[in-house]
Formats: sequence, structure tokens, C-alpha cells
Amino acid sequence: MERSLRLMLLLIGTLAIIHIGQAQSPSQQGFISLDCGLPGNEPSPYTDAGTELQFYSDATYIQSGKTGTVASNLESMLMKPYATVRFFPEGRRNCYNLPVEKGRKHLVRAWFFYGNYDGRDVKPKFALYLGPNPWATIDLEEQVNGTRVEILHIPTSNSLQICLVKTGETTPMISALEIRPMGNNSYITNSGSLSLYFRVYLTKSEKYIRYKNDIYDRQWLAYFQDEWTQITTTSDVSNNNKFNPPKAALATAAIPTNASEPLTIDWTNSDKPDDQYYLYRHFAEIQDLRANETREFNMVWNDEVMSTEPVIPDKLEITTMLSVSPRTCARGQCKFQLIRTNRSTLPPLLNALEVFTVIQFPQSETNETEVAAMRNIESTYGLSRINWQGDPCFPQQLRWDALDCSNTDIFTPPRITSLNLASSNLTGNIAAAIQNLTQLVKLDLSNNNLTGEVPEFLGNIKSLLFINLSGNDLNGTVPQSLERKGLELLHQGNPRLVSSSSPPKTTKKSFLVPIVASLASVAILIAALVLYLVLRKKKPSTVEAVHPPPNRPKTNVTHGSSPEPSIEMKKRRFSYSEVIKMTNNFERVLGEGGFGVVCHGTVNGSQQVAVKLLSQSSTQGYKEFKAEVDLLLRVHHTNLVSLVGYCDEGDHLALIYEFVPNEDLRQHLSGKGGRPIVNWGTRLRIAAEAALGLEYLHIGCTPPIVHRDVKTTNILLDEHYKAKLADFGLSRSFPIGGETHVSTVVAGTPGYLDPEYYQTSRLGEKSDVYSFGIVLLEIITNQLVIDRNRRKSHITHWVGSELNGGDIAKIMDPKLNGDYDSRSAWRALELAMACADPTSAKRPTMSHVVIELKECLVSENSKRNMSQGMDSLNSPEVSMIFDSGMIPRAR
Ligand SMILES: *[C@@H]1O[C@H](CO)[C@@H](O)[C@H](O)[C@H]1NC(C)=O
Ligand SMILES: *[C@@H]1O[C@H](CO)[C@@H](O)[C@H](O)[C@H]1NC(C)=O
Ligand SMILES: *[C@@H]1O[C@H](CO)[C@@H](O)[C@H](O)[C@H]1NC(C)=O
Ligand SMILES: *[C@@H]1O[C@H](CO)[C@@H](O)[C@H](O)[C@H]1NC(C)=O
Ligand SMILES: *[C@@H]1O[C@H](CO)[C@@H](O)[C@H](O)[C@H]1NC(C)=O
Ligand SMILES: *[C@@H]1O[C@H](CO)[C@@H](O)[C@H](O)[C@H]1NC(C)=O
Ligand SMILES: *[C@@H]1O[C@H](CO)[C@@H](O)[C@H](O)[C@H]1NC(C)=O
Ligand SMILES: *[C@@H]1O[C@H](CO)[C@@H](O)[C@H](O)[C@H]1NC(C)=O
Ligand SMILES: *[C@@H]1O[C@H](CO)[C@@H](O)[C@H](O)[C@H]1NC(C)=O
Repeated sequence: MERSLRLMLLLIGTLAIIHIGQAQSPSQQGFISLDCGLPGNEPSPYTDAGTELQFYSDATYIQSGKTGTVASNLESMLMKPYATVRFFPEGRRNCYNLPVEKGRKHLVRAWFFYGNYDGRDVKPKFALYLGPNPWATIDLEEQVNGTRVEILHIPTSNSLQICLVKTGETTPMISALEIRPMGNNSYITNSGSLSLYFRVYLTKSEKYIRYKNDIYDRQWLAYFQDEWTQITTTSDVSNNNKFNPPKAALATAAIPTNASEPLTIDWTNSDKPDDQYYLYRHFAEIQDLRANETREFNMVWNDEVMSTEPVIPDKLEITTMLSVSPRTCARGQCKFQLIRTNRSTLPPLLNALEVFTVIQFPQSETNETEVAAMRNIESTYGLSRINWQGDPCFPQQLRWDALDCSNTDIFTPPRITSLNLASSNLTGNIAAAIQNLTQLVKLDLSNNNLTGEVPEFLGNIKSLLFINLSGNDLNGTVPQSLERKGLELLHQGNPRLVSSSSPPKTTKKSFLVPIVASLASVAILIAALVLYLVLRKKKPSTVEAVHPPPNRPKTNVTHGSSPEPSIEMKKRRFSYSEVIKMTNNFERVLGEGGFGVVCHGTVNGSQQVAVKLLSQSSTQGYKEFKAEVDLLLRVHHTNLVSLVGYCDEGDHLALIYEFVPNEDLRQHLSGKGGRPIVNWGTRLRIAAEAALGLEYLHIGCTPPIVHRDVKTTNILLDEHYKAKLADFGLSRSFPIGGETHVSTVVAGTPGYLDPEYYQTSRLGEKSDVYSFGIVLLEIITNQLVIDRNRRKSHITHWVGSELNGGDIAKIMDPKLNGDYDSRSAWRALELAMACADPTSAKRPTMSHVVIELKECLVSENSKRNMSQGMDSLNSPEVSMIFDSGMIPRAR
């Protein structure tokens, strides 16, 4: 039997509210109650007559959006604060900035009643973000009567950003926002925040409870089933525990009418069948029991008993039962039951129930100091950019324009690495707040009307490699600290500014002019360089020589590198004699592949490198090789093996890579050469890191770079087992991989190659996703990609047939000895199979893959932290009982 509990949410903004026996209003201290779209001419704050809550206009917390009112027939039905809306016809992301207490648990609730405010009767659908992380999809097409979302969340900074993000054609809108600070000791999770699924008290009444009866303004909806009987008390029920549910919610309870039947609440969450649940069950005995009567029952979750001890509710006193770790349901079908024990003479009873799902907000917010600095810069210069809302760095596709950010991993706050405010009508001095952007690599303030002196603090930002101050009206002397080596400073076009180094700016200028060349002249420079190189190589074809290389647009560089490709290439070019020296005459050979030999080397006396010597014959298109090397020299990501330099002298071609000491993933999986077999958690992390590297190639680079040869032997590990992806993007000019039988025309490695490639002959980003899926299957199963001795020789077919058995243990690498969380294993397996879908359109994007893998990782880590979580909860708690930790069930 399915009862759609969600239906109860219909138009709850219209429901009558009860106030029971609460003469005095509890404090609203810390409450933020915003009536979104309250017209400017109406008083703010005002007290809502129904709830006695003080509502404020939202105008002070958001700079954008317009206001509207729901259609008049609905206006009278809705609570006043919910009858107006703020909507956002402009900008993709619009954000509220709300002051909260960092580290404290808050209830955060948002209401959405469309109510045809615009007279167009088109119900919007859009996304809701909490800072850099997705929170919910608001689909009023489906929730025609309006909806609300609620989470219990601990903010990581003193400001909470709630963002409405346009995802389609329709205009995002919001009716109300409610923030309530909570106690820290209730609603504790292993990891993640709690998203309210439903909160009910069992009563036949239709009324719902919130503030003033609930001091935290939680909302308790009335819920009852036909096969139940209601019991009620008029006595005072003590609600004194960490949860403090309202007394009004405890004064009634449901019992099954047939005392031998269980009390059952079930639901189906087909949208999100994998959700994890936390249940809070509130019990109080509200009947007078005779001496010969007992009420005792077990709690059962999907036919499994939840706790070791049965529940015996205390007389007129609350007992809250909670789960230490989250619970799951097969195929989203969840069933919670109370079944009386054999010795119980009375049926089970339930007063109130809260059900939450776990929601992860894994991406760290951008460094708080830097966000404050950006806000300061924004106000100093009076900038008003529509997309400067929400987190400056994430999500990446909504990053503030003018910025680039570093992205070490999701758990580290991103830092701002580039600020480009060229031609932005800036006036006044160079903003002091820039000194708080301490990891800035590139700063461009050119072509503004900045005055005053060049501040000393710019010299203290050690990471800076490039500053452009040209075309302003600065005066004084350039600080000595900015004349350092490795920092390019452009400042021409400031007539009153004097360079501190003795030969005045004329000499500097003549050197600098080509550097500030536009992109077009950069292309000419590359062309000239290539022409020079090609002629020097005495290639016979002069026709080829006069054509410039394919004009590749510039790469979006996040980490410090010079913006000028031609300079970059010169700097990174090594002579053959330097190569001989750095490898000590090719002393230590690391490996040998189809392309040639790889040797160990050292540059600058300390940096270890891997030198890949290419046989001349393997280079198909020399021009393409140059263009690709140029591009790859500028690709920097912590999960990509970076190209340090190259050599092309006569017949000698070499690529010089960062040295990654710990071999490749294949070796570690196979345990060859005494390599340890990596555990499941580490495997997931390696997969997530490799996925991040690939995602960067796909969306962090312009134009996107397709790896073309993703495989386990191309995932290298450093001394901390951090994954670095090797050999990307080179396939156009190189036969790649060690497989000699691979034709040089077909890029890629058999088994990993996108099957759609045979039809389209085009390798795109989704081809990499396919190969990544194969890698993931290898990580999970540790099977060969192609094994002719297997009944199903290709790994996808083998996994596909094993999946029919439904036993994950048969699929997982036996060398893991069963030491893995089966939830994360299932999830990774499903992800791998989705990636390896034969149809490229059905494969996820790498961004999606990254999110999934991170969540697998979180779930795996939370499993590891479980025992710790149990300990911390062992503190004595008189009125609370914990049920036994549950082992997640495999589906
Ligand atoms: C909750 O925890 C935070 C951080 O530990 C602390 O600052 C705050 O005072 C606590 N709040 C309550 C109500 O205990
Ligand atoms: C919306 O509300 C109307 C009237 O209250 C009700 O008949 C209808 O079933 C509701 N629709 C949904 C999807 O909840
Ligand atoms: C009550 O439930 C029991 C067990 O399910 C059943 O045998 C019995 O017939 C039911 N009694 C009534 C009155 O429905
Ligand atoms: C308990 O005792 C009362 C009389 O005191 C009797 O009417 C009732 O049937 C008894 N109930 C049970 C379950 O024995
Ligand atoms: C700068 O100001 C001019 C004139 O007021 C205006 O046309 C231009 O759009 C402004 N540019 C920016 C980037 O704000
Ligand atoms: C910047 O200065 C130039 C020249 O003094 C002037 O023409 C221009 O209007 C100024 N722009 C702003 C935005 O102040
Ligand atoms: C830099 O950040 C610190 C710490 O947040 C702050 O106290 C200081 O005022 C900031 N400096 C400027 C110039 O904004
Ligand atoms: C944030 O940036 C400041 C410098 O601006 C630095 O001192 C601080 O350590 C950073 N905080 C974190 C959490 O990285
Ligand atoms: C720079 O110009 C400002 C006015 O724009 C003036 O106050 C300051 O004294 C000048 N500094 C020097 C070193 O000339």
C-alpha cells in the first residue's frame, strides 16, 4: 500500500495554524523571516497575524529582482508573507546573502508559490543553490500548488548564500525565506546536511503546528490513516529533550485500530531511490495504563528490526528515537512499522515522526577573506555586475566574470588567482583590498582612470606573475619590489609614473610592446616561430612552411603562467645538449613505448622530470605537434601531468614532463612489481582525481581538450597516491600508447575506444567519458579490459552479464576482500556503466562523474567514520535511545 505523503504538502501555506496553550510567545531571536517581494511602500517589519512571526522585506538581502503579487483569488488563501514574490528576469544566478552564525545548526526554509503573479500562467522550473552547491530543483510545473524546501544545515561561514539559478526559459521566483538557528546537539548526521522529507504529528485534526508552539518554528503537518485510532490527552506532556518537539504535537497519537496489526507508514521515492534517510520518532505514553496492561513494540524498517530493545514509551514524557547512521530503501520503497511484542497487551503508538534525507554540500566556499576582498573591491569602484552574485568561484559555469580561481580539491576553499578589471571605468586609487587576494597570479587593471601611486603591497603578493597597469593615470615611482624577476609588469600609458630601475621606461617599453600584442599578433608570432623552426629543419616542402599553424584559441589558464604563448614556448624550449645533460646521458630509462624511450632527468638542479624521446618517424604533422605543445604548455591542473618543456633540434624531438614517482594505476591494481593493492576508498579518490583532471581538460580549457587515450596506464600516482593524468591531447600528431599493433590512424587503445568512434570517426569529450567508464570498471573489478578466455571478453559485457545476478561481491575485485561500503560500490558501478554506454548521448558529462564520485567517496568515508560517530553519541541521554547502527543493504 502506498500513501503519497507528499500530497499533504499541497498549499500548506493556506492551512490554519493552531496555537495551543502558549500564553507567551517564545523569542524570535536569530530568526530571519523574509517576505520576498514585499512592496516598498508597505511597512517592514510587520507581524503576521496568523503566526505572530515578524516578517521583514527581503530588499536588504538582495540587490536584484522585481516584485509581484499572486493572483487575487489566491492572495486571500495564502498567508500574507507568501502572497508576494520576487522574480528574476535578469541574470542567470541571483542570490540572497543572509547573516548566520558560522558553525551553528540552522533550519533553512524557502517557499515558492507561483500563483500566476505575472498573468502568463507559465509555471517556472529552476535550480536552487546553497553557495557553490546545488540544493534543489524547484519545479512548479509539477508542484502546481506551490512547494517549500527545508534543510538543517551548518553554515561554514557567517554568510549564507541562497541562489536561484535559471536553468531553462522560465523565470526563477521565490515567496519567502525563513532561517531559524537551532541547538547544536540534535539532528546529528555522519556526514552531510538533512533535507526535510516530511514532518508529521499523528492527528485527525487538519491543523498544522509551527511557531509559537514550536520554538524553532518547525512545521508539523497533520497526518492520519483510516486504519488507525486516535488517542488524545489533555494532560501536559513533557517535551524536554534536545529535540524539543512542540507539546501540541505530542498530545495526540495514533494506534492501529486492530491491536494485532502493525502501525505502518510507507512511501515511495522513485525520483531518488538511492536517498539515505534519518528518522526521528517521537513517542510519549498518553493513555492511563492499568496494572495488568503493557505497551511495548519494536520499530521495523523495511522488515528489519531497527533496535535491539523494544520501545516502552514513558508516561507523559517524550522519548525520541533516532538512527546513528542513515538508512536506505530498495528501489526507493520505504516502510516504517511499529509492531507490538508478544508480551504487550496494547497496540503500538506513535505521536510524531520526522523523516529527512541526506544532502551533501561538498564543494567548499571560496576563501572568506577573498570573498570579502572582492565585495570591498566591488563597492570601492562602484561596480555592478549582474553575475557577481553567490560564490565567486563555483559552480564553475557561473563563476564571476573577471575572475579565475584555483581548485585544488573540493574540500579546500578555492582561491582567486586572476582578477581582470581592464576597461572597467575604475577611478580612484588601486584598491587596498587587493592585498587580501594573496594567491593572485595575474592582475589586469589596464585602461581605467586609476590615480595615485602604485601601492607597495602588490610587491608582497608573491604569487603574482603578471600585472598590467597600463593606460591609467598613476603617478609616483614604481615600487622596487615590483621590479623582481619572474614578474611581468606593464605600466606604459601612465605619463606621470616613473620606473624605479635607472634606465627609464623607454627601454622597458620597447621590450614590452610586443608582449601586449593582441591575440592576432600572437598568432603571427607563433607563425613566425614555426616558420623559423621549420625552415631550420630544412623541410623540403616550402608550401607547408608558409602556412601558419592551425590557429588555436588561447587556453584558459588558472594557475600562474605567462599569457603569451610565444614567450612561453621560448622559455620552455631546451636544446638537445641540455636534454643530454638533464638525463645524464640517458642514464636512467624509466620505460619504453611505441613512441620511443622515457628517461629520468633533473632540471634546475632539483626538479625531477620524465623525458620522452620521440622517434622522428612518429611525428606525423610537425606543425600540429608545435601547436599542441604550445597549448599543453599552458595547461595546469593538479591532476594532470604537466608538460615542463620540449626539445626540437634537428632530428631530436623530446617532451619533458613533470616526474610522477609512483608508477601507474594499472601496476597498483595488478600488484605487479611488489606494488600494494590499493584499498577501495583510495581507489575512489584516485578515480575522482583523475575525473577532475579530465573535467578540467573538457570544461576548464578553451577550446576543450579531448584526452583521447584515457586508460589505467595513463593514470600516474605520486608519492601520496594522488592521481595525475598523463599523455593528453597529443594524439593528433602522435601514435599513442604502447600497443604496437595499433594503427597510427586510429587514436586510442583497444578496449577503451568509444564504439561510436567507428561511425563518426570523431573523438569528442564523450569518447573520453567512455574510456573513463572502462577505467572505472577496472578499478572496481580489477579484470582485464579484454580477456579472450572470459565468456564475455569485453569488460562491459562481462560486468553487464554479472549484474543480472545482482551479487555485487561477484563483480568487485576479490583482492578487496569485501572491505568496501556496498552503497558506494553500487553507485560507482552504476556510474561506470553509464559512462560506458554505447550511445554517447546517454553518457554523463565529466562534471557529473566528478560529483557522483565525490559522493561515493563521502559515503565510503562516512562508513569508515561510523564507529567514531557511535562513540561520540554514547553520552548519557535520559530520554533518548539510539537504535543499532545498520549495515547498509545491498540492493
Ligand atoms: C554551536 O556550535 C558553535 C560552534 O561550535 C558555537 O559557536 C555555538 O555557540 C553553538 N551554539 C549553541 C546554541 O550551542
Ligand atoms: C492542488 O490543489 C487543488 C485544490 O486544493 C487540488 O485539488 C489538487 O489536487 C492539488 N494538486 C496537487 C498536484 O497537489
Ligand atoms: C486483526 O488482525 C489480525 C491479524 O492480522 C486478524 O487475524 C484479525 O482478523 C483482525 N481483526 C479484525 C477485527 O479485523
Ligand atoms: C485487566 O484488568 C481489568 C480489570 O481490572 C480487566 O477488565 C481486563 O480485561 C484486564 N485486561 C487484560 C488484558 O487482562
Ligand atoms: C564605462 O563608461 C562608459 C561611459 O559612461 C560606458 O559606455 C561603458 O559601458 C562603461 N564600461 C563599463 C565596462 O562599465
Ligand atoms: C577617464 O579619463 C578620461 C580622460 O581624462 C575622460 O575622458 C573619461 O571621461 C574618464 N572616464 C571616467 C569613467 O571617468
Ligand atoms: C584583509 O582581511 C583582513 C582579515 O579578514 C581584514 O581585517 C582586513 O581589513 C582586510 N584588508 C583590507 C584592506 O580589506
Ligand atoms: C584565506 O585567505 C587568507 C589570506 O587572504 C589566508 O590567510 C587564510 O588562511 C585563508 N583561509 C583558508 C581557510 O584557506
Ligand atoms: C600623485 O597624485 C596625487 C593626486 O592625484 C597627489 O595627491 C600625490 O601627491 C601624487 N604623488 C606624487 C608622488 O606625485
